[in-house]
Formats: sequence, C-alpha cells, structure tokens
Amino acid sequence: MTPGPGRGGLAGAGGVELCGVRLRGPVLNGSGTFDALAARRAFGDALLERFPFDAFVSKTITREPRQGNPPPRLWETPAGLINSIGLPNRGLDGFIAHDLPRLAELPVPLVVSVMAPSPEALADLAARVAQREEVTMIELNVSCPNVKTGLVMGAEPVEAGRAVDRVRRVVEKPLILKLTPNAASPAEVARAAEQAGADALSLVNTLRGMALDPRTGAPWLGGGTGGVSGAAIRAVALEQVHSVAGAVAVPVVGMGGIATGRDAADFLRAGATCVAVGTESFRDPGAGARVAADLSAIVAESRDFAPAMRASA
Ligand SMILES: Cc1cc2nc3c(=O)[nH]c(=O)nc-3n(C[C@H](O)[C@H](O)[C@H](O)COP(=O)(O)O)c2cc1C
Repeated sequence: MTPGPGRGGLAGAGGVELCGVRLRGPVLNGSGTFDALAARRAFGDALLERFPFDAFVSKTITREPRQGNPPPRLWETPAGLINSIGLPNRGLDGFIAHDLPRLAELPVPLVVSVMAPSPEALADLAARVAQREEVTMIELNVSCPNVKTGLVMGAEPVEAGRAVDRVRRVVEKPLILKLTPNAASPAEVARAAEQAGADALSLVNTLRGMALDPRTGAPWLGGGTGGVSGAAIRAVALEQVHSVAGAVAVPVVGMGGIATGRDAADFLRAGATCVAVGTESFRDPGAGARVAADLSAIVAESRDFAPAMRASA
C-alpha cells in the first residue's frame, strides 16, 4: 500500500496499523460474510497464497452452540440483501476445537467476533477467547439485529460503555466494538465505548429491515425481520462512519456496501483507518483482493487523496 489517508494511516510500504497491530493493508472482511474454512476447502492452498483480506474477522461466536433462525434466511433486495441468519455457530468449545486451529493457519491476523446476552457474559466469553494465542484481537458484536439479545448494549451509550468496561477489565488484547446503525446516535455510543477503553470501532452492522412474501403477504424471512446490507446501505454507512470518526480518536473500521476500490476510498476519506468488505464477497469471493488492488491504485494516483475528513459537527 502507498501512503494515504486514515489516522491509523496507510503508513507507507509497511502497511496499516490497527490497534498497535501491523496489517499489510487496510481491507478486512465483515464478520459472517466470508467462510474462510469453506473457501479453503474449495480453493485449497491457493487461498492461503492469495488471501483476499489483510486481517480475518471470524463469524460471531457465542458461549453455547446456536441453531440460528428458521429458514428462509435471505431475501435479495434491488441493491442488497436482507439476512436473518441468527448467528448459528458451534459455541465456544466447538469453535476452539474445530475452527480455531484452521483459522490460525490463515496468513493474516485473526480477529474473533463474540456476542453474549449481558456485559458479564460478554466479558467471560471474550476473556476465554483472548487467552488463545491464535487470537490477535476481539470484536464485540453488540449490534446484530437478528437475535433478541445484544442489541440494547449496542444501541445505548451507557450500556455500550458498561459492556466495554466489563470486557476491558479482563482482556488486554485489542478490543473492537462493532456498532449498530440502528441507534439514535452511533457517535454517542462510540464516544462511550472509547471512554470505557475500546481500542477501535467498526461499523456498520446491518440495518433492520423486512420483506413480505409476494404471494401471501406474510413476512418472508423465518425470523420475521432481518438485517439489510450491500449497496443499499452504503450512503447511510458512509455518513455514520464520518460522524463516528469525527467523534473519537481511536481508529474506525468502516463497512456497509463496499464493492469497489472507489467505495473503499470513500470510507477512508470519510475517516476510516480500515475498511471491510461484506455482502460483495458472496457475489465475488475475490472481492477483498480486488477492492484492495483498486484502492491501492486510487491512492497512488490521487494527488488529492487527503487525510481523513473530520466531521464538522
Ligand atoms: C449473511 C450475513 C451474515 C452476517 N453475520 C454477521 C456476524 O456473524 N457478525 C457480525 O458482527 N456481523 C455480521 N454481518 C454483518 C456484516 O459483517 C456487515 O457489518 C454488514 O453486512 C454491512 O456490510 P456489507 O454491506 O458490506 O455487507 C452479517 C452480514 C450478512 C450479510
């Protein structure tokens, strides 16, 4: 990567620094949108040689196994997706036994995303995950719209601050708080999280949405409602990243509908230090690498590629 924007910075040929961790570039995956283990089965070691992301964020895990929401779980909108997956996962023990050894083989730092129903349970889960040497950072998912628990923590500044504070007491590794766009003021939530000790913020998670079955008029998704992602939410995400980046000093990982290098450049210009590619990876599993290459060319060619804008508010 060549020098460019973002307060953590596309810091020259050495890559990007996020929470004191040096990454070879600024492009991550959005949690839950790239199954690295399935991709390894499909593409073999070629995946490791040309891994599309500069750090890998796991699908969110919970303490106990979860089945996830009933089907159908997806609805395609004219410019995006509504998902109602509901965080199916093997639970902590299954993750450690089955997934972690394989994820540790990826050639980039591993971020593990965790979710729990209370600050205490979140701290317990995060501490257990952080003990593992394979894990470089923890992402606290307090923002999934598809489960009954978790959302309040992420939508309210006081609750978000309390959750980060509890986790911070027991985890030394870098903590990223993943913010929900379904909050009255994501910037206020971000400030509270920063004050409580979050090392970085990532946003946005999906926006709450729903679709009706055209034949019956009943909700299409098995979970009733879901989370909207993809191009449809890019403008909303860009504004929220701009507003949050202007409110805090810690780095921001921006995401929401990023499908091209141009989109990624916009998020960096809006104040993000890193970006994440989510829904686009379902269409094109190589999207992360394509976005990174195009972004690199844009940064190199743009004389006006100014440091991150600050929110005027
Ligand atoms: C199918 C699907 C599953 C997702 N699972 C998770 C998850 O497990 N944890 C999480 O924090 N976000 C999850 N997300 C949200 C994405 O990481 C990302 O925040 C959001 O989709 C916005 O980015 P995008 O528009 O580029 O997809 C999921 C999104 C999709 C579409």
